[in-house]
Amino acid sequence: MKRVRSLPIIILTILSSLFSLAAYADESGPIVIRFSHVSNDGSPKGKGALLLQKLVKERLGDKVVIEVHGNSELFNDTDGLEALRRNEIQLMAPSLSKFRAYTDELQIFDLPFLFDDLAAVDKFQSRPKGRQLLLSMVKQGIVGLAYWHNGMKQLSANKPLTTPEEAAGLNFRIQNSDVLKAQFAAIKANSVVLPYSAMSKALADGQVQGAENPWANFDEQNLQSVQPYLTETNHGVLDYMLVTNSEFWYDIPFEIRSQLEGIIAEVTYQVNQTAAGETLRHRENIANSGKTEIISLSDEQRAAWRQSMQPVWQEFSDQIGKRLIRSAQAAN
Ligand code: SIN
Repeated sequence: MKRVRSLPIIILTILSSLFSLAAYADESGPIVIRFSHVSNDGSPKGKGALLLQKLVKERLGDKVVIEVHGNSELFNDTDGLEALRRNEIQLMAPSLSKFRAYTDELQIFDLPFLFDDLAAVDKFQSRPKGRQLLLSMVKQGIVGLAYWHNGMKQLSANKPLTTPEEAAGLNFRIQNSDVLKAQFAAIKANSVVLPYSAMSKALADGQVQGAENPWANFDEQNLQSVQPYLTETNHGVLDYMLVTNSEFWYDIPFEIRSQLEGIIAEVTYQVNQTAAGETLRHRENIANSGKTEIISLSDEQRAAWRQSMQPVWQEFSDQIGKRLIRSAQAAN
């Protein structure tokens, strides 16, 4: 996947950047930024995308237009990232598990029981090591602009799960991540990689019997109707990286790009400030639905899940980097 550019290509890129800079400066029409994502409007990401669209319209309306295409209307995350590299779309916010094809380091966010809570995730993302990861895919033409929170993941299934042994043999829907695959293998469960848009049907049809989701996604996808049990494991995190096509981004005239980056910082603050409250609201919706039983774990029971999934760290520590893992742990 890594792209090494030859000199002629670099020269062509510089020339085309200069040309498109001039084109932006001279053109009468606004710059159109297509934001494609897989969630619905009520989700943390959906709300963030709409807020970004609104603020850009208010402040830069004559210069920039953000088109939002949610609900996998254009692409799922895997196809979308390739479309972003081809500049067919310019913004996405895939979950951090979706970047496997472009970098080893971002796998850190999938390590089970690495972060104690969302506050620790936030701390790590804000520190220099976390910020550096935003630039870990530049050679592949993808640049990270911000981290957006969703929340900690919970396990759900068609049967109550209190111990890891009870999950053995079940099929869990996972995102396309080697770490998540290993996590379920560690508890002798199977995993099936499916796009987000296919999860609910796969659970309804019995293709898979379980899943892992933050509260918001479980509720927004109405998994109450297909998953009678949810165990509050908080075993991992599902957050997003707002990404763009690097050539497109750095071709935007400096002044406009700076204003866009300012608006993105504001939206990011808003999305991340409201994440904890949103999580509680969705947890309450699920509890009040009367369809899904929420199973709380004692400290000892949670420790058993942690212990059975912990070998995954060893398996991926060379790929991810031991120092990076230590700095994430230090955020707890
Ligand atoms: C999302 O973007 O929230 C969906 C992540 C997933 O595929 O589970």
